Amino acid sequence: MECVKIVLLAIFALASFTGKTESATDSKLVCYYDSRAYNRPGNGKFDIPFLEPALQFCTHLIYGYAGIREDNFKISPLNEPLDINKQNYRHITDLKRKYPGLRVLLSVGGNNDVTGEGSEKNLKYRTLLESVESRLAFVNSAHDLVKNYGFDGLDLSWEFPENKPKKIRNAVSSWFSKIKHKIVGESVVDEKAEEHKEQFTALVRELKNVFRHDGLLLTVSVLPNVNSSVYFDPRQLAPNIDFATLEAFDYRTPQRNPKELDYVAPLYELLDRKVDENADYQVRYWLGGGLPANKLILGIPTYGRAWKLNDDSGLTGVPPLLTDGAADPGPYSNEAGLLSYPEICSKIATPKEIQAGYLGKLRKTNDPTKRYGSYAYRLPDSNGENGIWVGFEDPDTVGNKAAYSKAKGLGGIAIVDLTLDDFRGTCSQDHFPLLRAAKFRL
Ligand SMILES: *[C@@H]1O[C@H](CO)[C@@H](O)[C@H](O)[C@H]1NC(C)=O
Repeated sequence: MECVKIVLLAIFALASFTGKTESATDSKLVCYYDSRAYNRPGNGKFDIPFLEPALQFCTHLIYGYAGIREDNFKISPLNEPLDINKQNYRHITDLKRKYPGLRVLLSVGGNNDVTGEGSEKNLKYRTLLESVESRLAFVNSAHDLVKNYGFDGLDLSWEFPENKPKKIRNAVSSWFSKIKHKIVGESVVDEKAEEHKEQFTALVRELKNVFRHDGLLLTVSVLPNVNSSVYFDPRQLAPNIDFATLEAFDYRTPQRNPKELDYVAPLYELLDRKVDENADYQVRYWLGGGLPANKLILGIPTYGRAWKLNDDSGLTGVPPLLTDGAADPGPYSNEAGLLSYPEICSKIATPKEIQAGYLGKLRKTNDPTKRYGSYAYRLPDSNGENGIWVGFEDPDTVGNKAAYSKAKGLGGIAIVDLTLDDFRGTCSQDHFPLLRAAKFRL
């Protein structure tokens, strides 16, 4: 008996080592790689060789991002010096030789191809959908680009209009606004949303018809704050996509919400917040709408959103809180109100520093409920300055989300993105601690 067990264990170990086991182990781990990180300063600079310790865990690598030409609606590289001249497209797909199971996709959009403002913002992403000819131009050019560089497929991180952010008003104007809303309804972001939803389904079908012959993959990423119920029809998309990734985060950002901070990527609904601003709601929308669970991927961010705390923010740190807007950029990620995971972990007080009175470090609050996410903060000093609050994912909360994905029978999870995880292993000895945490709970 013992002997049989050992033999079975050995077979299992061999099978998982050679990557041949299906079922339980075939959860997808989709890794996003935003190539803009090449231009970050100092230790933030990320080049393709840094990917290697991650690729043993990733089943799919999504290279971001290509864009769309406004004049002819063809897909085109957004960073030719890097993508083409420095041959990043080639180098990224060459990784498949070393990691034969890895599928590498090119993604278009991803909030990296932003044009225009107000109602004109990213207009080309809607105009393209509106005519058969422009869709065809896009489909053919995408097929060519993907094939020429040896990608396994295309991901559509389509830049649809975002929801209006929540406004903070004082009591009187809030009362007026309630009356106004009763009369005119919520302000409409996109009057042709219903058509755009149908046309997007058509684009996906047309792409798949061309891709199918070459066995190319087609996936969809739902960008943060793009309303799924407005733009995506899960049942109609299902037959033509390999999977959809929900970027279920950035429900609050310092840019969109400069006056009130809150949890940025809650798994479940919180009291007194919009019912649909959490991952679980989004998952239920897509499953209820007809997408098979194994085609749904839950996206997890590797960065935190950081605001300034001031004297009006109170002393508890518990969100929501009044704030003065975006915290200063981190030294490596170099973007106001955003901190990479290594930038956050280096700011959090160690047990020794806590004993010594924090010494200017941040106080971390874990999430024992496993529902809302972690945060860390430092109250302002006696001049009302240097206060900061950051909401983020740590290995525990990432693990919780991976466990959620598994419990719901989803297709897997996505890490968005690798360049903001601790790719140098500065927090602990491990490189990519968030990616690893996801892997070990899937
Ligand atoms: C998303 O759209 C639905 C209507 O289709 C609306 O009820 C909901 O409030 C929207 N969500 C957000 C966060 O704006």
